[in-house]
Amino acid sequence: MDKLIATGGGPLRGEIRISGAKNAALPVMICSLLTSETMTISNIPHLHDITTIMELLGQLGVKLQVDDKLTIEANATEVNNVVAPYHLVKTMRASILVLGPLLARFGKAEVSLPGGCAIGSRPVNLHIKGLQALGAKITVDRGYIRARANRLRGARIFMDLISVTGTENLMMAAVLAEGTTVIENAAREPEVIDLARCLKTMGADIHGAGSDEITIHGVQRLGGAAHRVIPDRIEAGTFLVAAAISGGEIKIKDVKPQQIEAVLDKLREAGASLEVGDDWVHLRAPRGRLKAVNIRTAPYPAFPTDMQAQFVLLNSIADGTATVVETVFENRFMHIHELRRMGANIQLDGNTAVVQGVRKLQAAPVMATDLRASACLVLAGLIADGETLIDRIYHIDRGYHCIEEKLSQLGAVIRRVPRNYLERKSA
Ligand code: EPZ
Repeated sequence: MDKLIATGGGPLRGEIRISGAKNAALPVMICSLLTSETMTISNIPHLHDITTIMELLGQLGVKLQVDDKLTIEANATEVNNVVAPYHLVKTMRASILVLGPLLARFGKAEVSLPGGCAIGSRPVNLHIKGLQALGAKITVDRGYIRARANRLRGARIFMDLISVTGTENLMMAAVLAEGTTVIENAAREPEVIDLARCLKTMGADIHGAGSDEITIHGVQRLGGAAHRVIPDRIEAGTFLVAAAISGGEIKIKDVKPQQIEAVLDKLREAGASLEVGDDWVHLRAPRGRLKAVNIRTAPYPAFPTDMQAQFVLLNSIADGTATVVETVFENRFMHIHELRRMGANIQLDGNTAVVQGVRKLQAAPVMATDLRASACLVLAGLIADGETLIDRIYHIDRGYHCIEEKLSQLGAVIRRVPRNYLERKSA
């Protein structure tokens, strides 16, 4: 397991292209299970999670070809296995998304319960409840969800909580169900809209994606499609924060600014100057210190939970005191313990962090705990005094396409070292 060393330095400056969104690519790749025709999916980010889902789809019998590093062809004519095993699902919760399509097309599925992760218990009760409403017979035993259905039937489903993958799973189940399905209190995230766009290209009859009520009229079969995955709005926000906290300047390209409005608003409030084009954003950090900004995460279009860690870091070195309230996940503050080791002044009270800005963080060995928190620790290392060693960076490799290369393009001093680096160096 490698480590990263981030060396505190000057302002980050330059231009970078934003990669395709992991959380859009995963459901779009999985919806290839719904048709026997070929899907061509482009702008796929080169990430560990993508490798994992390709391994899972391959095990189910989907034929996959990687045309070049960013385009994948998938064909599910010969799916001969409907079991998603624990060893794959435990490394990537999004594997639960094969449940809906397997049930819809083959009438059966056995998917390991994903289990919790660092940020929370991550239950899937809403996925199961929704599929049962569509007529699936589901039992959960020995760590597996076992589902059967002759043909799913359309239903009106109210989601008790707004769930992104819950909405996506039910959409993919409903498109081949008999009759009409209405998903109420649906997630409105851009990744849900992108999946609906792909399903419509395949011939699905879907209305309302992006609103809190999605109506799906089931069809007999779906065809293939060519689909380009939307840019990763969280990667975009992460690099904007990197430039803002280092006193630098950045232009991010191939992004959809309207998908990060809540983040852009907070960057302006913190004192950054922004210019926004159709598919780019240019940010200039303020001359002096950033201003502390209060944050409250919530489902889209509100401030995204996946950007919470990055703004805790921004507030850690900003002028003033701010509160950061995490309302989506019950345990998404682990990065705070690591930032404190670097000198951040943060008090925790339940789901609220009170952050008092300090002038400078100090380098220290830190440990990544979840995908987005680990990116925040890399950025912290780039503005702290000295060399910060970041351990357990497999979290980063799951969700950020070539983060070192992109940061180095902006002038960052960052390098990957073997896992025993620290021991060898001190020897
Ligand atoms: C998606 O996770 C994303 N993952 C997450 O990104 C993101 O943080 C999250 O949405 C919120 O925006 C993917 O799209 C693959 P939820 P998801 O279902 O769908 C509760 C990343 O690393 N809930 O919207 O799993 C749940 O516990 C990840 O890219 C239930 O109670 O999140 C949470 O409190 C991190 N029962 C809330 O709903 C359920 O059946 C929102 O979860 C489902 C969810």
